Amino acid sequence: MALSSPMVLSLLLFASLTALLVLAPRLSPPPPQQPAADEQAPPATGSGVGGGGGGGGGLRGVGSRAGGEEADDLRLFRRAALESAAAAAGAKAAGPPKVAFLFLTNSDLTFAPLWERFFSGHESRLSVYVHADPAARLLLPPTPSFRGRFVAAKPTRRADASLIAAARRLLAAALLDDPANAYFALLSQHCVPLHSFPRLYAALFPPPPSPSAASAAPRRQRPRSYIEVLTGEPQMPSRYAARGGEDAMLPEVPYERFRIGSQFFTLARRHAVLVVWERRLWRKFRVPCLPEMAQDSCYPEEHYFPTLLDMADPGGVARYTLTRVNWTGSVEGHPHTYTAAEVTPGLVAELRASNHTHPHMFARKFAPDCLAPLLAIADTVLFKD
Ligand SMILES: *[C@@H]1O[C@H](CO)[C@@H](O)[C@H](O)[C@H]1NC(C)=O
Ligand SMILES: *[C@@H]1O[C@H](CO)[C@@H](O)[C@H](O)[C@H]1NC(C)=O
Repeated sequence: MALSSPMVLSLLLFASLTALLVLAPRLSPPPPQQPAADEQAPPATGSGVGGGGGGGGGLRGVGSRAGGEEADDLRLFRRAALESAAAAAGAKAAGPPKVAFLFLTNSDLTFAPLWERFFSGHESRLSVYVHADPAARLLLPPTPSFRGRFVAAKPTRRADASLIAAARRLLAAALLDDPANAYFALLSQHCVPLHSFPRLYAALFPPPPSPSAASAAPRRQRPRSYIEVLTGEPQMPSRYAARGGEDAMLPEVPYERFRIGSQFFTLARRHAVLVVWERRLWRKFRVPCLPEMAQDSCYPEEHYFPTLLDMADPGGVARYTLTRVNWTGSVEGHPHTYTAAEVTPGLVAELRASNHTHPHMFARKFAPDCLAPLLAIADTVLFKD
C-alpha cells in the first residue's frame, strides 16, 4: 500500500530535521556545557506552560548573552523543532486542529474580557499562550482563558531582536504544549478580534470538498501562512543597513531577498517549526542595530519572519496578514491608536475589508478605553458574521 503524501512529507521533514541535527554542530556551536545563570528557569514545556508564574517574575531569564543565543532558549527551540517533527511523523493529534493564540505583551491584557467572549464555547479548538515582559507588572488579574497560560518570558524592547526571540519562544511553547495546535496567531495586548471564532476557524480550516467535487478538484493545498511579505518599500535600504552597513547581512541575506511585513502573523504549523529550528538568518537578524540607526531603522521583527518564510517556502505564504493596522498618520513608528470615540460598527466594517481571499480577522492598535464600546457591540457587530 502506498504511503499517503502527508505521511511522505512528514517523513521528509523528519529526515531533514534529523540531517540538520547531525550537521548542527558544524553550523553552530553547541550550547555551552556550563549552564547559564538562569538554568533553574526551565524552558516552557508542556507542563511548564501552566507554571510560568504569571509573567511577573523579577530577574528570571536575564541570562548571559555571551556567545550569542542563551542556552535555555537554544534548548527550547531545538526540542520544539525535534519533538514536532517526530510528532508529525507519528500519529496524528487526537481531536480537531486548534488555533494557538500567542499574546506578546508588556502591559495589561486589557482586552481579555473581549477575547473571553470570542473564545467562549470554542475551547476545544483553541489554546492561549502569553509572553509577558517580566518587567511588566500586569495589574489586571488574568481572566480564565489566560490564567496559567504564561510561558517563560524574557525582557523585550523595541528596536531590538528581543521581540523576535519572544515570538519564537511563544511558537516553541505552543508547539511543545499541544500537537493539535495547527495555526499560530501572534497578537499583542492592543489587538482585537474583528470576526467570530467560527468565522476565523472556517477561513483557516476550510471544509474538505464534497466527495463528488473531490475527484475533479486539484489536490488540496498545504495550509498557507498568513504573513505580509513586501518588497521595494522606501524604508528598506536603511532597514537593511541598520546592523552595520550594506554588507552586514551578507552572505545569508542579499538585499534582493530582504523582505518587510507586519510583525503580526498567523503561521501554519510547519512554518512555526521552521522558525524555531532556524538559526542561520536568526544569527544575522539578532545583531544589534548601530546606535545611529536604532531610532528610525531598527525593526528587525518586521523583517526576520517575512524574509525567512519567503526564502524557505515562497509558495506557502499568502503574503498578506489577517491583522489590520492603520499606518496613516503614524508617529515614531507607532500606528494609529483607536480610542473609544472611534469605535463604531462602521469602523469594524472598514477594518474588516480586505482585497485578499479572507477579510481581516484581527485589528490593532486599540487603546484600553475601547474595551467597553467594543464589548457593547461584540454580539451585534464584531462576532456577527
Ligand atoms: C486611520 O487613521 C487616521 C488618523 O491617523 C484616521 O483619520 C483614519 O480614519 C483611519 N482609517 C481607518 C480605516 O480607520
Ligand atoms: C484595496 O485596493 C485598493 C486599490 O489598490 C486600495 O485603494 C484600497 O485601499 C485597498 N483596500 C484595503 C483594505 O487594503
